[in-house]
Amino acid sequence: MNGLAAVREFTRRDRVFDFMLPRVVPELDLSHGTILYLEDITVGFDGFTVLDRLNLYIGAGELRCIIGPNGAGKTTLMDIITGKTRPDFGSAWFGQRIDLLRLSEEEIVQAGIGRKFQKPTVFEQQSVFDNLELSMAGDKRVWPTLTASLSAAQRERIEEVLEVIGLADHRALHAGALSHGQKQWLEIGMLLMQRPRLLLVDEPVAGMSHEEMDRTAELLTNLAGERSVVVVEHDMDFVRSIAGTVTVLHQGSVLAEGPMDEIQSDPKVIEVYLGGEQTAAASMTKVAAC
Ligand SMILES: Nc1ncnc2c1ncn2[C@@H]1O[C@H](COP(=O)(O)OP(=O)(O)OP(=O)(O)O)[C@@H](O)[C@H]1O
Ligand SMILES: [Mg+2]
Repeated sequence: MNGLAAVREFTRRDRVFDFMLPRVVPELDLSHGTILYLEDITVGFDGFTVLDRLNLYIGAGELRCIIGPNGAGKTTLMDIITGKTRPDFGSAWFGQRIDLLRLSEEEIVQAGIGRKFQKPTVFEQQSVFDNLELSMAGDKRVWPTLTASLSAAQRERIEEVLEVIGLADHRALHAGALSHGQKQWLEIGMLLMQRPRLLLVDEPVAGMSHEEMDRTAELLTNLAGERSVVVVEHDMDFVRSIAGTVTVLHQGSVLAEGPMDEIQSDPKVIEVYLGGEQTAAASMTKVAAC
């Protein structure tokens, strides 16, 4: 093709180039029973290695707890899964077909990964119901128009989520009037409106009362099964109460993995915690005491 022909080809009105098309995220394929594959994930900041050839596999419907001393890389791990931080090395797959490293943060949400940060970010001036509705819309600007045209199915979905998060009786209350724990549940509900297949929750019970912690344990346990749930948490009583498999992260790698009773008697784990700082040592004392 000569130069002119190439230009004509490029400027043809009926021609749609691949890069102009919206990218279609493949359907989640769980045929092998694993929802997340992280392999050899390595990332460093300013020459300091934060995640070091980390391998982590999460099963479909699994409830997994991730523990580890401060700075072990737990939050960075969530940043990698959600595309906030890109690894220097390694691979990250969501099911069999979705390569997370090729997706933008928005596409990762669309693909079915929801993340709850530690601080609740609900809309305080809006009612509990409206907060759920708002999160369904995704885009806040379309919210007023959406209210008028909420379908029966959408209402049903909001009702369903209100039941799941235990706030059905508070639907009309302004979110600002909720307790800290209730706000956390509302935010989990807002994520559920997007129907995530993998839910990432970073330190959900910090600042909660004992009763709220128990209810959160029950909520997260109920959410697993239909979807996978990964919880990062320092509170060992809480981790024990939701059982499941526990992964211990240390210096950016997996140090140990298994049921809580095996983890708490693992000499490697005890050494890491006892060799660590005061808070970690205190946490591990609790682990060892059980
Ligand atoms: N964007 C960044 N730039 C530079 N350093 C970072 C960045 N993000 C994380 N780090 C460093 O990486 C290390 C691991 O941090 P990370 O927040 O993942 O640990 P963590 O296990 O979540 O700790 P904590 O239990 O305190 O929440 C820390 O030393 C932190 O200072
Ligand atoms: Mg953290």
